[in-house]
Amino acid sequence: MRVCVIGTGYVGLVTGVCLAHIGHHVICIDNNEEKVKLMKAGQSPIYEPGLSELMQASHQSGNLEFSSDLAAGVAHGEILFIAVGTPPLPTGESDTRYVEAVARGIGSHLDGGYKVIVNKSTVPIGSGDWVRMIVLDGVAERQKSLVTAEGTSVEQATAAAEVKFDVVSNPEFLREGSAIYDTFNPDRIVLGSNSEKAIAMMKELYDPIVQRQVAEDKSLPLVPVVVTDISSAEMVKYASNSFLATKISFINEIANICDRVGADVTQVARGIGLDSRIGGKFLEAGIGWGGSCFPKDVSALIHTAEDYGFDAQLLKAAVSVNQRQRLIAVEKLQQELKILKGKTVGLLGLTFKPDTDDMRDAPALNLIEQLSRLGAKVKAYDPIISASGMSHGISNVIVESDPERLADGCDALVLVTDWEQFRKLDYSQMASLMNHPVMIDGRNFLDRKVLETAGFRYVGIGR
Ligand code: UDX
Repeated sequence: MRVCVIGTGYVGLVTGVCLAHIGHHVICIDNNEEKVKLMKAGQSPIYEPGLSELMQASHQSGNLEFSSDLAAGVAHGEILFIAVGTPPLPTGESDTRYVEAVARGIGSHLDGGYKVIVNKSTVPIGSGDWVRMIVLDGVAERQKSLVTAEGTSVEQATAAAEVKFDVVSNPEFLREGSAIYDTFNPDRIVLGSNSEKAIAMMKELYDPIVQRQVAEDKSLPLVPVVVTDISSAEMVKYASNSFLATKISFINEIANICDRVGADVTQVARGIGLDSRIGGKFLEAGIGWGGSCFPKDVSALIHTAEDYGFDAQLLKAAVSVNQRQRLIAVEKLQQELKILKGKTVGLLGLTFKPDTDDMRDAPALNLIEQLSRLGAKVKAYDPIISASGMSHGISNVIVESDPERLADGCDALVLVTDWEQFRKLDYSQMASLMNHPVMIDGRNFLDRKVLETAGFRYVGIGR
């Protein structure tokens, strides 16, 4: 099928590359010329395991193109994905101006052939109808300009107005760091629309994924396709992320109680997670959830609820538990070191989770801020964030180039991100370089025995 993906951020680029890989002819559009140039040269603007390789292979097969020409993209695609950012506004609402600009742009280039316009961006509930309205505005503007332009016949102008399209909500559930795997091995595909024709085209688009042709385990049953109305599909996205965020806040609350009664939250999580009604995933206690999705989506859902006169108390509690949890490492440092003023604290990891270079809403940022406020000197080491990478607006932290330099002169270390390579560091050597070999394991990730043998005092979360 012919596909156009507009916006080559995380979701757009991964979607475009994966759809090209399963045989569709994809044009990815971005208005950032520099980025387009980079991608045309086969380079990925984001760090995501496996993405560059897949991008280059699809590029060579001729299935994947990059361009900044929206008109050409709209002319090419039977299916047009809107995959631009919807960043949070200070109020917690989503900023939908990029979606609006793209929808208007699509409208102004529609030429009469039937198109499916897909909302892939996480848009506020009710955006399906809104996107339809904006696209029609774009169509009307073009029609007006055609009527007033010299040399344009009334027939041409009328044809521009007779566009046929449907809007589909197709939320994305991929996780950073395993985005390609998640795209080819989804738990479900959600399609929201009131048009049977659009749903049929979307099903055809995803058929190789539904049939597990690209799955890791091809013997698995077909991927369930959940067809809903537009608002329900939009709600599925918010409700999924809010549930997962709440689940983590729940286990963090349990961890804090475990700390006080002397239980071990990792054992408790295993004990409750084996109940199939609960499930074992997303029960890892730690320093809280962050990233580009959970914080934004939970706030947006709270906001939507408020707009419709409902006080979403549970979601608000999930957020406030998370805010407190982000500073749990500071509390533990105070217990271990007492006064933090004049002490040096080293952070192992900065990104909001491993296998990504994403620092958006990362718990590390709150930690750095609070520790600096209390007068501690903060150093950090992260496998992917370099000192120059941290220079963009993040101050009060010295980024070291290796774990030993980080440990040198520290009074305590805090494991912030569960990067796999942190399991195998030379902890004896690191302990020997520290003033106080204390490790606050903010992800319950390290082996207590290994750390203690290396000479550390080990402090986990809720254990
Ligand atoms: C999430 C959703 O998982 C994904 O479906 C959606 O499309 C986007 O948001 P992502 O933000 O990439 O994906 O990360 P995820 O792996 O879900 O982790 C989110 C945060 O929760 C991270 O900060 C992580 O460290 C934290 N987390 C996760 C925990 O603290 N405990 C857990 O048990 C799981």
